[in-house]
Amino acid sequence: MSTISIIAAIADDNAIGKNLQLLWHLPNDMKRFKELTTGHAVLMGRKTFESLPNGALPNRKNVVLTTLPEADFVNCFPCESMKDALDICEKEEEVFVIGGALVYRQALRRADKMYITHVHAEFPDADTFFPIVDWSQWEEIEHQDFPADDKHAYPYSFITYIRKK
Ligand SMILES: NC(=O)c1ccc[n+]([C@@H]2O[C@H](COP(=O)([O-])OP(=O)(O)OC[C@H]3O[C@@H](n4cnc5c(N)ncnc54)[C@H](OP(=O)(O)O)[C@@H]3O)[C@@H](O)[C@H]2O)c1
Repeated sequence: MSTISIIAAIADDNAIGKNLQLLWHLPNDMKRFKELTTGHAVLMGRKTFESLPNGALPNRKNVVLTTLPEADFVNCFPCESMKDALDICEKEEEVFVIGGALVYRQALRRADKMYITHVHAEFPDADTFFPIVDWSQWEEIEHQDFPADDKHAYPYSFITYIRKK
């Protein structure tokens, strides 16, 4: 069975996006995302896929959830249900659920692990939010804090959680 891992960057008010885009530019978060996900499957919603600036993410199996029957996205596997999406990833060691909100909501109850970048700011204009998490079910196993700097407008923390047994 694959490990199902959520990877997300979440603001203090749970904001994750606006107008189909991210709310921040954090190069170290992008770097960590690439390091963790390269060589693995990435599972996303159709809107997140369409927001990727260069289409499918290279060196990863891109699985895109959509109900559009004519979906024919380049270099990816369109799937009409979460079950189909996970079925085509069954041989993968780790499947990374990369968003957006609708897909995080569905994946949360199945996920084994979460790689969260907590962005220490609030975004009252956001239109997309991470679902409510019952943090009592999750154990923190890694934690790194970083201050804002000239390349990162906000302080942030990389925290990895696993589901408590
Ligand atoms: N901060 C972060 O870490 C992060 C990460 C990713 C995305 N985001 C942000 O999140 C926002 C997008 O999130 P979103 O919730 O609006 O959209 P989304 O989850 O990316 O995509 C939603 C679409 O996925 C398809 N879908 C979802 N579940 C499905 C299922 N079970 N079966 C079939 N199709 C399914 C549907 O596509 P069809 O309409 O084609 O049927 C649905 O409209 C953007 O602002 C993006 O920048 C933030």
